Formats: sequence, structure tokens, C-alpha cells
Amino acid sequence: MNILIMGGPGAGKGTMSEKIIKKYGILHISTGDIFRSEMNAKTELGLLAKSYIDKGMLVPDDVTNAMVKSYLMNSHHASGYLLDGYPRTLAQAVALNEVIKGTRMEIDKVIALDLPFDVLADRVTGRRICKKCQSIYHITNTPPKKEGICDVCGEPLVQRKDDTIESLSVRVQEYIKNTAPVLDYYREKGYLVTINANQSIDDVWADVQKALED
Ligand code: AP5
Ligand code: MG
Repeated sequence: MNILIMGGPGAGKGTMSEKIIKKYGILHISTGDIFRSEMNAKTELGLLAKSYIDKGMLVPDDVTNAMVKSYLMNSHHASGYLLDGYPRTLAQAVALNEVIKGTRMEIDKVIALDLPFDVLADRVTGRRICKKCQSIYHITNTPPKKEGICDVCGEPLVQRKDDTIESLSVRVQEYIKNTAPVLDYYREKGYLVTINANQSIDDVWADVQKALED
């Protein structure tokens, strides 16, 4: 099964991705997570990405496309992939199509998590992530068992540099301008399933499973 998961900043893409890969055993490719690990390792790609990400802007298409292409080409994962946060421009959607068309990597479904923008601020400012394994928490919605410590690997939790109100506002503008047209592109192709993400995590997950198993 080859899936794309889309949605605005803080809509719950990463939270649903953790559940999808656990249940369906497919490869998780999150462009945001990859950029963050490159930033932590201070690689050339990481330093370049950081100059955009910290401000909430999209990393340029040529850089992002080349990175995703190499992940897809090097993944010989039998059960498929879950692309989280890619494509988010029409140029990226076209580039993805070039890589996958006519192969077993063709898209089966696109899940769009729909959340009103006024709910995003709480999700994003309350989020904490594990710098090591990238597990996602929220200080009130999904707190870790021990405050400030990752349940999975015991490392300290951190706040993302781009999880500020200023950066969120830029991310929302980028989403409206660049990513909303990508949703229309997949809607026209008949791949898109829109899910109400303004529900409890369990209810969103129930809807996602229903959409994937339909
Ligand atoms: P990325 O990391 O993808 O950030 P994003 O799109 O802004 O989305 P988030 O990761 O912030 O949110 P999410 O939807 O994963 O929500 P989560 O599950 O964590 O990208 C970061 C940056 O990298 C971009 O701004 C850009 O600069 C760059 N980038 C990445 N991809 C790119 C691309 N393709 N092209 C160019 N640049 C790219 O949930 C959020 C919080 O809410 C958590 O605390 C969670 O616990 C909580 N929560 C989740 N669901 C619920 C629920 N149902 N109820 C209550 N709380 C919930
Ligand atoms: Mg995410």
C-alpha cells in the first residue's frame, strides 16, 4: 500500500503516521523528520534546510525532490510507503509522479487531515518531540508518562524551533498558497479522502483506518 498523508501544520500527520506504519508495516518517509535529523547532524543539507524551516518557509523544490527521490529509489520495502508532508507544491507532485509512474510505487490513497486553522496554535505550541526517535507528544493531549522524557527511548523531549506563533503563521500561509492546490490535484485524480482531524486522536485514527481499508 502506497499512501500520502497531507494536512496543515499540526493537523496530526505525524501522529497518524506513527499508527499507520505500526499497523500496516510500511516505510515512513517524513520530509520534516528527515530535514530535522539532517539539521541535528549539521550536514550541508541540514544547514540549508534550517535557514528555511526555522522561519516556517518551504525548503526549495529541487532540494526536497532530490531527497525524496533518493529515499524512494533506495527503499526496497515490499509493503509500500507512507509519504508524510510531501508533496506540498504542485511542482513536487509532478516530480513525484515522474519517479513512481509505471512502477509498483504508484499511489493508492491520499489522506487529507482537515483542521480549522484556529485549532492549530494549541497543537503546535503544546507539542514536544523526542530529538532522538522523533516520537510526538503534547503537554496536555498526549503527555509522556514521565514529564519531559520520551516513553520510547528515555531521551529528553524538546520543542521544535519552528513551533512558534510567528513561524506557524508563515507555515499556514505556505500551506494555503502552495499545498491547497496539491489537494485539488489529487482530488481530481480521485485519490483524495478528506478526514475531519478536529476529533480525538482515537476517532481520527478510526476514520483513517476506515479510509485505508475501504
Ligand atoms: P513538517 O515537520 O512536516 O511540519 P508541518 O507540516 O508543519 O506539520 P507538523 O509536523 O507541524 O504537524 P503534524 O501534522 O505532523 O502534526 P503532529 O502529528 O505532530 O515540516 C516542517 C518544515 O520542514 C516545513 O515547515 C518546511 O519548512 C519543511 N518541509 C517539510 N516537508 C517539506 C516539503 N515537502 N517541501 C518543502 N519543505 C518541506 O501533531 C501536532 C500536535 O498535536 C502534537 O503535539 C500531537 O500530539 C497533537 N495532536 C495530534 N492529533 C491530535 C488530535 N486529534 N487531538 C489532539 N491533539 C492532537
Ligand atoms: Mg509532522
